[in-house]
Amino acid sequence: MKKTVATFKNAKIKNEKLTMVTSYDYSMARIVDEAGIDGILVGDSVGMVTLGYDNTLAVTMDDMVHHTKAVSRGAKNALIVADMPFMSYHVNIEDSIKNAGRLIKEGKAHCVKLEGGSDILDKIEGIIKAQIPVMGHIGLTPQSINMFGGFKVQGKTINQIQKLIDDAKKLEEVGAFAIVLECIPEKISKIITESISIPTIGIGAGKYCDGQILVVNDMLGMYSDFTPKFVKQYKNLKEDINEAINDYITDVKKGTFPEEKHSFKINEKILDELNK
Ligand code: KIV
Repeated sequence: MKKTVATFKNAKIKNEKLTMVTSYDYSMARIVDEAGIDGILVGDSVGMVTLGYDNTLAVTMDDMVHHTKAVSRGAKNALIVADMPFMSYHVNIEDSIKNAGRLIKEGKAHCVKLEGGSDILDKIEGIIKAQIPVMGHIGLTPQSINMFGGFKVQGKTINQIQKLIDDAKKLEEVGAFAIVLECIPEKISKIITESISIPTIGIGAGKYCDGQILVVNDMLGMYSDFTPKFVKQYKNLKEDINEAINDYITDVKKGTFPEEKHSFKINEKILDELNK
């Protein structure tokens, strides 16, 4: 069944947990979609896990449109959320709406995600008025690492906690349909989750969130540069891929690949004629 923003809102009412993973290309989107995931985030984490940057700051609108197009060709049922990259919604409302529009018109995403709370409410409001649903994202917002001084758990002091709760309420007020809570102590996520009527999607935010999201390369063991504490690794595909590539190298070197079944035949008469 096709998942929409209404599916997300209703899940909270029915107390049903929501599932999300990231994807950045057609093949992975197709696999996770067929597995029955509720939502796919084309995250700006593409910059780290696919493009090899140290952080997400260098990711461009063109990068996001390119990867969102690929994901939307692969996913038939999941809600596709496209991340707005750093500096695509920081300058003014007009540019923010235009950039969000590209992710919908060109990328074929269903909605967009922006990092931040009270500082960017005017941009979020503008995007929603343009009929583009918005997912919020508060807590550890990776586009702000230079302000935070690194990837650090948020919501540990009274001031930080109060700001997170206020930001979540303001995001709901301006019309966000869901909010990602990243790297927040689980009891604080519980307070936030219980104080708003839109679903919270946690990553490193504990079990009380209305749903969970993981970076697909982390959960499948395909990105080993850095594995955060909150990641559960469901498979170690890096090991499996390594083994498969080693087997392939051995086969080719020994001449045991390709076999007859992998090769194409030519009519013997034509071969004879060629050799005349
Ligand atoms: O870009 C991303 O993958 C994200 C998730 C960490 C929520 O924003």
